[in-house]
Amino acid sequence: MKTEVLPVTEDSIRLAGELIRRGELVGMPTETVYGLGADALNPQAVLNIFKAKGRPADNPLIVHVSCVEEIPPLVREIPGAARRLMDAFWPGPMTLILPKADCIPNEVSAGLDTVGIRLPGSEAARRFIKEAGRPIAAPSGNRSGRPSPTTAAHMLEDMDGRIPLILDGGPCAVGVESSVIDATGETPVILRPGGITPEMVKNVLGGVAVDEHVMSPLREGETARSPGMKYRHYAPKAKTVIYEGDAEHVIEAIRKRYDEAEAAGEKPAILGFDEHDFGSRVQISLGSATHPEDAAARLFAALREIDERGLTLAICEAVSMDGIGLAVMNRMGRAAGFDIEDV
Ligand code: TXA
Ligand code: MG
Repeated sequence: MKTEVLPVTEDSIRLAGELIRRGELVGMPTETVYGLGADALNPQAVLNIFKAKGRPADNPLIVHVSCVEEIPPLVREIPGAARRLMDAFWPGPMTLILPKADCIPNEVSAGLDTVGIRLPGSEAARRFIKEAGRPIAAPSGNRSGRPSPTTAAHMLEDMDGRIPLILDGGPCAVGVESSVIDATGETPVILRPGGITPEMVKNVLGGVAVDEHVMSPLREGETARSPGMKYRHYAPKAKTVIYEGDAEHVIEAIRKRYDEAEAAGEKPAILGFDEHDFGSRVQISLGSATHPEDAAARLFAALREIDERGLTLAICEAVSMDGIGLAVMNRMGRAAGFDIEDV
């Protein structure tokens, strides 16, 4: 199969909608990351998502809609707290876990009684969903275990020859996946941090809970509240380590680690901030230390670059966990298997 990459136009959106109604897969730009979309109500099309990604069948998919009016048939109930979050943050980078209606195939929910619903902030995504006329099931458009794609070119790297079309909407503005919030109970719980931060949720609901596994791996025998927590994600082939602490100590420790690794025959690279001086060592920029949004937008591309350049060790500077920094540290932590050195 030849994979076409087309800019978002009226014609390409129309073609994308036709493909979805025929049960095919389409690469979709969103404000977070590129998604691999299919008709959420067509079990065969949904199975093809798992095949194209190489994704474990027990990891459920998020269902995307183009407006809130499309949601009632997909869920049994919208609790009050969920409604307040919807009003505050949609369209935007937030997924709400709600009790699923019977029309959601088991292939989407992976056997759970719930479904993740998302109304994306990206206008191109909403136009595509509306044109398709179906809710769109879409995981991130990477092959399973790879960093999520934040450009159409990155999605093509992973999906070339596997799907007919990728809509190119340019680079993703947020760069990390949506915040996943379990909104089935009275007190919503953040299962995966993203662009809608704990502080923002707290401002709306007066309180917020963050699942303990956001910054720690699952222990042997523990069950994940969100199946995605079980899997090693975002991992470059290179070994990845993180240094955390005050900037001066971190810079010194990173320089030392780099030089030792290089002397031992490794090909290291530093994922660091522009303000910090690492001399002539190989550095891939995470943007400014004072703008965690930069690191969010750049992290996945940086992890891909590490492998493309054949580098063998990624030494990362930690980001402060405020705001979207928590999402950055969750993704970086998982790429590193939570190998975080406190200096
Ligand atoms: O920003 C995003 O959310 C992107 C774009 C394409 O919308 N999508 C995305 O999908 O990141 P995916 O499949 O890569 O990640 C979905 C995460 C997984 O960790 C999955 O386990 C969790 O959401 N999830 C989905 N449905 C769930 C459910 N019913 N209960 C708990 N967790 C769920
Ligand atoms: Mg994913």
